[in-house]
Amino acid sequence: MADDLRLVDVRTEQLEDVERVRSRSFGLLEPARREAWIADAQTFIDDGRMLGVVDGDELIASARYWPFQQWWGGRKVPMAGVAGVVVAPEYRGRGVGSKLMRGVLARAVEQGYPLSGLYPATTVIYRHLGYEFGGGRFRCTFPAADLRSLGGKDVTVRRAGSADAKRFLELADQLHSSARISGPLVWPEAKVAEWLGEDNSFCYLADDGFVVYGWEGDMLRVEELVAGSEATARALWSVVGSGSSISTDVDAYLSPDDPAHLLVDQEADKQRVVQQWMLRLLDAPAAIAARGFGPGVSLEVDLELDDSELAANTGRWHLSVSGGSGALTPSTSSGDALRLGSRGLTALYSGTPLASVRKAGLASGGAAADDGAIDTAFAGATSYMLDYF
Ligand SMILES: CC(C)(COP(=O)(O)OP(=O)(O)OC[C@H]1O[C@@H](n2cnc3c(N)ncnc32)[C@H](O)[C@@H]1OP(=O)(O)O)[C@@H](O)C(=O)NCCC(=O)NCCS
Repeated sequence: MADDLRLVDVRTEQLEDVERVRSRSFGLLEPARREAWIADAQTFIDDGRMLGVVDGDELIASARYWPFQQWWGGRKVPMAGVAGVVVAPEYRGRGVGSKLMRGVLARAVEQGYPLSGLYPATTVIYRHLGYEFGGGRFRCTFPAADLRSLGGKDVTVRRAGSADAKRFLELADQLHSSARISGPLVWPEAKVAEWLGEDNSFCYLADDGFVVYGWEGDMLRVEELVAGSEATARALWSVVGSGSSISTDVDAYLSPDDPAHLLVDQEADKQRVVQQWMLRLLDAPAAIAARGFGPGVSLEVDLELDDSELAANTGRWHLSVSGGSGALTPSTSSGDALRLGSRGLTALYSGTPLASVRKAGLASGGAAADDGAIDTAFAGATSYMLDYF
């Protein structure tokens, strides 16, 4: 790679260059979305979350990350959600993307994010840098008539909008923590308000739940539905199903463990569409300390971590889990410890059974007799996301 390629913070006046590279990577930005794209880009720039690579004066690659929190075991963990990773076609395949992503990792560590996540268009570059699959974005389809007849008529449901953003976040907080959910993102309140205020966001609120849905072509699609009780789930789904005269089926982004799968008589399409996303632990002790673990699990085990990109994670650690919390502390003991690289650690963190991690060559050593307890500590509901970023 040429020496004059430099990693930089993107500046506002370079956004035209970013857009040019982006168009050649993802297609042209729709004119209606351009203003919002620029407004978002400016917030990334202001917070030091947008990096680029320049060749002399010309910007030839860029990437940015969202300041998310992500639910892990019912607790919110700060997560740098990387998006818009683009390299100009004439510079691809020469290590520019890797240089850019190393800059992104270093910046996210500097800003204190224990985790980073992304939707990969290609997994190779991200695996080289220590990312691994962390979960999926699942979409399923219900017959609208079956939703319409779910009942819940006694539950009071009212139309909601951007002024209810805080309440939506509170409800998601309560319900995700009590169900020890893993995967969904927490967006900044201003972005939630923006989403709820969109023309195509139909939002309804009950005492213990909400739904946001809209049109996708001539079909209704649920973007998020959370309910604290069976009656509320029935009421909110039947609001959506009331559109059955126009939308025969309803698409929904949902956890594979969502009660709707048990509540609705049938699913119109047996195929669940999945988009996989990747995760990386940036700061292993902080990521372990921030997430929730199985409440009844107690575990004491040594790990030998080898992180070729982020050296602070490398070394011998003691993992201790009890009372629903975990801690990773430096260990001086000797003996055979469970050996993991960044990908193996990430797979474990996101609930992949250790037997699978071992069989993929991403874990070795340790006492096989501990595997069951380690699995139980990290296990929980399937990790999922609702939104693409
Ligand atoms: C994907 C992209 C960012 C990679 O940038 P790049 O500068 O070409 O990446 P690098 O040269 O640093 O490659 C790093 C590794 O990823 C591999 N790689 C890069 N692009 C790949 C692709 N499309 N398919 C498979 N492997 C790929 C490289 O072969 C290399 O692996 P190796 O060292 O084992 O050979 C760039 O090709 C691009 O902008 N693509 C279009 C937009 C896009 O898909 N962005 C990603 C969104 S998540």
